[in-house]
Formats: sequence, C-alpha cells, structure tokens
Amino acid sequence: MSSHLLLGQILHFEDTPMAAPPEAAAHHDPRGALLIENGTIAAIGSAKDLRDAHPQATITDYGDALISPGFVDAHMHYPQTRIIASWGKRLIDWLNTYTFPEEIKFGDPAYASAVAALTLDLALQNGTTTLASYCTIHPQSVEALFTEAARRDMRIVAGKTCMDRNAPTGLQDTPQSAHDDSLALIERWHGKGRAQYAITPRFSPTSTREQLEALGALWSANPTCLMQTHLSEQTDEIAWVRDLFPEARDYLDTYEAAGLLGARGIYGHAIHLEPREIDRLTETGAAIAHCPTSNTFIGSGLFDLAGLSARGIPVGLATDTGGGSSFSMLRTMAATYEIAQLRGTALHPAQLLWLATAGGARALHLQDRIGTLAPGYEADLTILDLASTPAIAQRTDRAESIWEALFPTLMMGDDRAIRDVWVAGRRVSRAAAAP
Ligand code: GUN
Ligand code: ZN
Repeated sequence: MSSHLLLGQILHFEDTPMAAPPEAAAHHDPRGALLIENGTIAAIGSAKDLRDAHPQATITDYGDALISPGFVDAHMHYPQTRIIASWGKRLIDWLNTYTFPEEIKFGDPAYASAVAALTLDLALQNGTTTLASYCTIHPQSVEALFTEAARRDMRIVAGKTCMDRNAPTGLQDTPQSAHDDSLALIERWHGKGRAQYAITPRFSPTSTREQLEALGALWSANPTCLMQTHLSEQTDEIAWVRDLFPEARDYLDTYEAAGLLGARGIYGHAIHLEPREIDRLTETGAAIAHCPTSNTFIGSGLFDLAGLSARGIPVGLATDTGGGSSFSMLRTMAATYEIAQLRGTALHPAQLLWLATAGGARALHLQDRIGTLAPGYEADLTILDLASTPAIAQRTDRAESIWEALFPTLMMGDDRAIRDVWVAGRRVSRAAAAP
C-alpha cells in the first residue's frame, strides 16, 4: 500500500465555528502532517510524530503553505461557463438574453463535453474539488458532466435542469419527460463512484405545478437523491411567482406543496425570505447555497448569513457561475465577508474557510466524506500559499496569528494562491489543471 505524507500548516475544526467561538472551534498546527493511504486521510498530527510513525511514506513538504480540505462549490451552472461576466442585466433579462441561448447549445454532446471538461479544470485550478452543478434540460449535458467528473475522480453533484414553461421551446421538457429523463439519469449515475444525483427543477417560474409535482414524486421515490433549485433571489422574480402561483402562501410553498421541500434540498440564493419560509427551512433541515458574487453582480440583494445561520439552517458557499462573476471560492469567501459586513457582521476567517469546505459539504449531505481533515475522510485537498502575491506577502509578513496570516489570502487571493490540489488522494498538477 502506498502512503503519502504531506507536511505544512494544518487547520482543522473540532466544532462548527458558526455556533462555537470561531478560534476555539479550530485546531492549528504550524508544522503539521497529513497521511494519505488508498485515497483517504489515514492520519493527521504533528510532522514529527507522523514522520516517525511512517518512515516508509513518500513525503511532500509544503513548508508554510496551509493544507486545507478542497473547496466545495454548493451551487453553480457549468453550462454558463462561457457566458460568465455578461454585461448589464438583472435576473430574468439575464436569463433570456444570455443564459437560454447558450444552454440550447448543450443538446450537442461534443459541446457539452468540452464545456464540462473546461469547467472542471477551472474548478480544480481554483482549488475546488467538489461542485454541485445544474446542467441543461438535455440528458446529454448531464451525461457529459458526470463522465468528465468521473474521469478526474471528482466528487460531483449534478442533475438535469427541468423547465416546461417560460423558456424557449428548444429548452422545454414536459412533466413526464422531466420525470422519466431524470429517473434514467438517477439509475445511471446516482451513487456511481463519486457521483450524486440532484433532482433539479430550475425554479418555479419555469415549471408548471404539474412538473413540480412530478419531480416531487420522483424525489419521494428516490429519497437519497438531493434536490436543488432557486428560491427568492430577486424581488421581480418573487412577484412573478406570486402571479404564477396565486394559491401559494409564498415562494417556498410552491415547492413545499409539490413535495419539493426536505432536508436533502439545497435552495440557491434565498435572499428575500418571509418569516414562514425561514421557519419551514429550519423545521425541515433544508440547506441554502449562498452565492455572493452572483448576488452583487446581478444586483439581487444582501443575504442574511448571520440570521439564517443562527437559526441553524445549513449554508454552503457557491460561485453560481455564470451569474456569479468568479470561479474562485477565495473570491467567493471575500464577497461573503463583504456582504456580511454590509449587514453588520464581520465574519471570522475560521468561519469563511469552514463555510467553503465543511459547510458546503454539510449542505450537500457529504459531511461524512469530504470537507474535513480527519481520518477516514476522502483525501480531497487544496494547498494554499499564504504569500502568493507581493501584495498578500507584505501583509502576511506582519501576521501574528494563523488568522491574520490566512485572512489576506481569503480577501485578496486568486488561483495563484492554489499551490496544489489533491483529488481522492492523487495530486492534480497545476499545469494539468490549467485550461
Ligand atoms: N434562477 C433561475 N435560473 C437561474 C440561473 O441560471 N442563475 C441564477 N443566478 N438564478 C437563476
Ligand atoms: Zn443558480
């Protein structure tokens, strides 16, 4: 059996820093080590102890770099990679102008495969080892992403996006075909290798009640699947939902009435929530994907991370590319911090790093497998250079604690801070990950 020992700074969490005092929840070893065997973390400890205990292990010494769990992007749209940073529209206009014309192209399996490969390589280049992605209505777009992820041995959550109204005809399915195509993909991919299927109604404006109900029935027949959708992102969208579903108590109720509210549900955005919606998310254990660069880029609003976390709602961080303006979870952590500041909360660096790793894993119900540095976890790792640019290095140089050393990279870092990435215990060289 091959053993690989990584040396560097290690931070790991013994508690969630959202509930406990952040620094007390974390353990820092400035000269730590992590042992990888058979694709999983076999041990963590001090460099000296693990070197002595495993003299046969191959060693990679990362010096002062920080060994972190790989980042988890809890909500993104791989079919929107090629339209990231499209100018000047708000949500509904942005969908009609940029998104739908691009998504039509994913009926071509070759195009879907090329963009899936490009997206996964960009993710790895940015230290993201797991993502939860929407696909398009085309089953071949789902096939392409799962296939490319399997080729890289990446943990992935994905599903066929379902829409049967308010979209171009070339991008519409029906309640029956959405159900049947999703079921065929579940049977083919859910639980295969590192893949998990998420039943994916895009959002209530593009699904009839019949379609939502068909997908609710599919979820109750396949309860180990995840379910991902959008919720209360922009006020115009919420008003539209009110018109389309006059019988619903609120936006979340359009899902709840169809059997699409549950603990394995991940609701993207969730910015403008009613008190009843917050209560129901809390009671059911549903998770929220917070998409900060998207929320500022499309002009959606300021997510209440502190308030919703205090209610115990699991929150993961997400790029939401291409509505989001970056592939980087470092940039996403910076935007999370900025939005929280605008709402009166200064998030601790421990909280930001936890949200981008263990928090995302918890939102995706993968908290026993990824997102944490502990024996038995899958060895998906991102090695962070905490002095990756002159601007960051001159600040880190003054740091008097690991938190002061880490925070400049969370605020100012980009793909240059990603020193290395390990996926399922195998090193992904930066050169190979470059597009
Ligand atoms: N709501 C419905 N579809 C989308 C999408 O593709 N991106 C974002 N940001 N919001 C949505
Ligand atoms: Zn989205």
